[in-house]
Amino acid sequence: MQASELLLTRQSYNKLVEPAPTHSELELILNSAMAVPDHGSLMPWQFIVFQEKARNDLGEIFAEAAEIDKADEVKIHKAVNMPLRAPLIIAVIAKIKADCKIPAQEQLITAGCCVHSMQMMAVSLGYQGIWRSGEYAYHPHVHKQLKLESQDEIVGFLYLGSAKDSIEPKQRQSYQTHTIFW
Ligand SMILES: Cc1cc2nc3c(=O)[nH]c(=O)nc-3n(C[C@H](O)[C@H](O)[C@H](O)COP(=O)(O)O)c2cc1C
Repeated sequence: MQASELLLTRQSYNKLVEPAPTHSELELILNSAMAVPDHGSLMPWQFIVFQEKARNDLGEIFAEAAEIDKADEVKIHKAVNMPLRAPLIIAVIAKIKADCKIPAQEQLITAGCCVHSMQMMAVSLGYQGIWRSGEYAYHPHVHKQLKLESQDEIVGFLYLGSAKDSIEPKQRQSYQTHTIFW
């Protein structure tokens, strides 16, 4: 697939099943994130990979967060199963460096670029995915259990796998209404 086609047809897909990317494909995916634009070369990111049983650990952490919030049984059950919606999940953490001449906003953006690059690399390898955040990305218990530091942000959980069904291409609007030629 041409890079231009990849970018013009990109879309998310959430019915993700086995097979997941192989180990060598996962390395390509992770390395694509290491090539994002990065002001000051801070590399203000960390990736946590959840596969196989590790997804259950993440589900337990989500469920504990829901319990802390006194959620009902339905919501707790939903939380525990969330990470089972794909065979591979990559949590992307923005490790914001405080007291740095590069603004925190730029560090957050660069971590976001990591998610996008990894999703696109996965698609280029024949997989599909979706970038999710959700309330647990912001939950203090999740941050604590994932051993994040106080200034860290979870930019997203990138769910990756193979498409369960055929994919309906999305129609996109043209750029005109969002663009001014000065
Ligand atoms: C920071 C961020 C967080 C997101 N969180 C969620 C989420 O929790 N759940 C969800 O369904 N989509 C979420 N999305 C949106 C999807 O990734 C996706 O972009 C959206 O469903 C539109 O589909 P498309 O990418 O095919 O246009 C998020 C996107 C971004 C950029």
